[in-house]
Formats: sequence, structure tokens, C-alpha cells
Amino acid sequence: MPLENLGIRKLEEELRAWFTEGMAEPRSVVDGLDIGWGGVQRWATSAMPDLGRGLHLDFACGYATFLAQLGWRFPQAGLVGLNIDFSGVHAAAKPLLRRARVRARLVRGDARRIPFPDGAFESVSCFLGMQDIELAFGEQALFEVLGECVRVLRSSGILCLLDEIAFECFDALLASSPLEVETRAERALDVRWDREAAECAVELYAQGWLQQRRLRDPSVDGKMASAYLAKLRKDLEKQFADRGYYVPFGPVRMVVCRKLR
Ligand SMILES: C[S@@+](CC[C@H](N)C(=O)[O-])C[C@H]1O[C@@H](n2cnc3c(N)ncnc32)[C@H](O)[C@@H]1O
Repeated sequence: MPLENLGIRKLEEELRAWFTEGMAEPRSVVDGLDIGWGGVQRWATSAMPDLGRGLHLDFACGYATFLAQLGWRFPQAGLVGLNIDFSGVHAAAKPLLRRARVRARLVRGDARRIPFPDGAFESVSCFLGMQDIELAFGEQALFEVLGECVRVLRSSGILCLLDEIAFECFDALLASSPLEVETRAERALDVRWDREAAECAVELYAQGWLQQRRLRDPSVDGKMASAYLAKLRKDLEKQFADRGYYVPFGPVRMVVCRKLR
């Protein structure tokens, strides 16, 4: 393993200890996943093209955990994080970046209307944001966001999307865009949770699902959330039956594209 990855792993461990301070298990295990995502974020930044000194936008940056990784891997890059809000749980973004010793400008805004001029960025990324955007705003929103990414990228700029979305869905999204795919790869989370952590996780994920879904449709009720929780529980049981442990997400798929014109 390159020394760089070992160094980043250590920074992740320090940040995770801070992020989960005062939390008891299993909650600390579940929430601690946000820092590093079971090695997937470290893998992603090692597989991305070097951002150099360019201006880089990370949209749907949430708590800014991927921004922290970008800052560790590409310390010269000019980082900008965009999220629809930095209130509630997302208020953690600023202190998290301070703790990670990563400098980034945080901008509140909707990725369907990125508040930057045409060609403003050398590169753009999104880590696990596309699914949230689809959940909250519908499938069409993904096309709107992609159009905005193309607009704010300079010619020959790089777009790096990471999500659980199938490669075919990425293909459908990119088909009529001026973006050429350079790299596709996927990575499973290096995580093996026991039943206690798994059960805590599915409860929390079902609550999160309901919150996101209600942004689009406030009439979504507890019944639908229960159906979603039942689906997660079914998968949990299947994983324990098949392999004896639980992996909460993934694999995460990465598509790196270049803007052609
Ligand atoms: C699962 S989080 C992504 C994780 C994040 N990239 C990280 O590194 O920690 C998804 C985020 O997308 C944000 N989001 C959802 N819709 C959005 C939109 N239309 N524009 C910008 N952000 C959005 C949510 O607020 C949430 O913080």
C-alpha cells in the first residue's frame, strides 16, 4: 500500500474518533462509517486524476467527509463544497473540515442550479449525492444536475461521480451529454458489521429515507417507511444467512468523465 494511503488512513481514524466522541456502540460504529466509508473514499481519491491546483467543486457535499478526503489527497486544489443546506446535521461540515485541517469554501445551493458561472471549475465531484437528489427531487433532477455540472466545467474538465447507481444508469444519464467516460470502477466497503450494528443501522437508514422522501412528497407516511424498513431487514437477514456479517452499502461505482467541448 502506498505510504499516502497509510497516512490518509491515520487521518481518517483521528477524524472518526472526534466525529463519534461520546457515542456508545453500536451507534459509534454506524455513524463512524461516514468518515472514509469503509476505505471507499480513500480508494476513490487514489483512482481520480490529480486535481493539481485547479478549482474543484464537490456537490451534495453533506457533512463534507469527501471534501476532507479530497483535501488530504490533493492539498493544492482550491476546494468548494456545495450543499442544499448547512443546517441541522449538515452544520457539522465546517467543524469537520477544521478538524481535518482541510481548507474549503462551503456554499449553500441547489445542485440543480449551481450558483457559479459557466466554466468556473477544472473539476467536479459528487460522493453518494446522486441517489439523495433522486430520492428528494425525482429522476429528472439527475439530468438537471448533470447539465449544471457540464455548464460549470471548463472545456476538458473532469467530472467524477460516485454512487451505488448501476453503471447502466450512469450510461443512460451520460448518453446525450458532451462527456466522455475515461474510467469506470467499483469498490465494496471494507466493513463487516455484527447484528447489533446492523440492526441499529437499518433503523437509522429508514428514518433518513423518510426524511429525504418527504422533501419531494410530504404525504409519504409511516406505512411507506415501514415497508422500506422491512426491505432493509430482509436484506440484513439474507446477508447474515449468506456470509455471517452485514455490509451496509455498496458496492460504490465510480465514473470519471471528461468534458469534450
Ligand atoms: C448522503 S449525502 C452525501 C455524502 C457527502 N458527499 C459526504 O461526503 O459526506 C447527500 C447530500 O445531498 C444533499 N442534497 C440533496 N439534494 C441536493 C441538491 N439538490 N443540491 C445540493 N445538495 C443536495 C443532502 O443535503 C445531503 O447532504
